[in-house]
Amino acid sequence: MSVKITSEYIELLNKAVARELQVSVQYFLQHAKIEKIMRKVKAENILLDPTTYDQIGQILKKLAIEEMKHAGAIVERIYYLGGEATTKAFKPKIGENMQEFMQYGFEAEEEALELYREIIREAGKFGDYDTKELFRKIYREEEEHLYTFQEYLTINISEPEETAPKSEWREVFDNDYFALLNKALASELSAIIQYITQHEKASAINFRKKETPLEVITNSNKAQVISDMLKKIFMQEMDHYEKIAERIYMLDGECTLDPDPLPKVGESVEEILKLGHQAEDEAIVLYRKIITEATKKGDITTKKMFEEILMEEEEHYWMFDDYL
Ligand SMILES: [Fe+2]
Ligand SMILES: [Fe+2]
Ligand SMILES: [Fe+2]
Ligand SMILES: [Fe+2]
Repeated sequence: MSVKITSEYIELLNKAVARELQVSVQYFLQHAKIEKIMRKVKAENILLDPTTYDQIGQILKKLAIEEMKHAGAIVERIYYLGGEATTKAFKPKIGENMQEFMQYGFEAEEEALELYREIIREAGKFGDYDTKELFRKIYREEEEHLYTFQEYLTINISEPEETAPKSEWREVFDNDYFALLNKALASELSAIIQYITQHEKASAINFRKKETPLEVITNSNKAQVISDMLKKIFMQEMDHYEKIAERIYMLDGECTLDPDPLPKVGESVEEILKLGHQAEDEAIVLYRKIITEATKKGDITTKKMFEEILMEEEEHYWMFDDYL
């Protein structure tokens, strides 16, 4: 590689990763919160508001996915430059209503633009033109995000009324129950970040020089297959994440912002597989427990949801198992 890279430079790129992960979680959770807010909208506005709410909800989800893609692209670049990518997000800021969602989004995008201008400058200084090009492309998209938030900031979105008194059937949803559901949410977030990073890492392993031509073929094929498999899996985990977050908000709980356990990336394809296997194993045990609890509480919706998710986690488990 002709470009000589410093650790400060990798740190700067990792700041971008931490930021992308932050806003992805932020927009995902805001998207998940919207359905709950929608149900509290004033009765006289009900015909008017669902459209606006729906629209903003869709936008937030689209942005969340775009930010996750940005994170992946930057992680890929970091591995290519020989650095290690962070799995730690900056703290997301969720808010309680549409106005706050739009305001926090606007602020986050402004911060992004500032950071990315710095990265584009630095990349230019280093002669690291691919990184410069990547961030120019991301910069344009963040600018669009900024304008989107700005546009919605200027329209007046009616605020939800005071919460109606809690009905009796909802009293079973106590703090312990929310803590349990949040364990699932935290483990999904951990899986998303872990698999996205590993997907890029496996891909980078694929490009690394090997000892013999035969080794190149066998190892690189496997790394590429695993990389593709991880991509498929993390997209399903994102779907799980969204569903669980929506459910927690709907039951009037608060969503945790942090992944748990901490995502682990691993150094080799074998390690990546073992870590995935272990993560799915833990998810399966946890989700069985949640299904039992939900059944006890008569919370059939949550039970059904986790039964569906559980089936996919078992599939993931066997996918990793196949390659071990
Ligand atoms: Fe982004
Ligand atoms: Fe953005
Ligand atoms: Fe999952
Ligand atoms: Fe999974």
